[in-house]
Amino acid sequence: MGGWAYLHPALAGLTLVALAVALGMGFRLRDLRLRRRQRPEGGLRHQRWSRPAVTLVLVSFIAGLVTMGLARGSVLTTLHGWVAMIALVGFAASTLVGQAIASEKSERRALHGLLATLALLAALATALTGMELLP
Ligand code: HEM
Ligand code: HEM
Repeated sequence: MGGWAYLHPALAGLTLVALAVALGMGFRLRDLRLRRRQRPEGGLRHQRWSRPAVTLVLVSFIAGLVTMGLARGSVLTTLHGWVAMIALVGFAASTLVGQAIASEKSERRALHGLLATLALLAALATALTGMELLP
């Protein structure tokens, strides 16, 4: 499969960096909220950055499945794959709450932040378990 095997790890690495930036923006909003300060643009910048970042998680996940299928003929046979699944579910849950806050249907900001932080930890565990799969 040659160089294609590196497409998914490279994309996923980039995704992790984008997620770390999203988390930093989120914590800044949290800090302002807890100190009862005005949040600039109501967190719009955080949303504009985070939606593509979360989309990248999904794209990375699919790229992992595709390269796995091409290279080994079977998918979801690895610890890495299942830890990735946990991260994906975590980001989906966090995103649902985040969208609800954004459209003023929910006030569960701390829950959104907690789910996102746990999902990012799972994504870091995904990266660690992915190392041993590298060619
Ligand atoms: C589709 C993706 C996302 C949407 C729509 C979204 C939306 C939001 C909104 C509306 C807020 C509240 C802003 C405010 O209080 O003014 C928020 C806060 C926050 N977000 Fe996100 N977010 C998303 C993804 C993420 C991701 C990927 C992370 C981290 C990896 C993250 C971490 C946080 C944190 C830590 C807070 C602060 C929570 C608090 O105030 O306690 N978000 N987000
Ligand atoms: C956002 C983080 C990541 C997600 C969501 C993710 C997801 C996946 C998934 C679903 C698979 C298929 C596994 C299976 O079917 O059992 C996979 C395969 C793989 N992943 Fe990841 N992964 C991530 C990060 C990484 C990182 C950082 C690396 C490199 C250090 C990596 C290296 C690999 C490798 C080498 C494979 C096997 C592909 C092949 O055999 O060609 N992954 N990944």
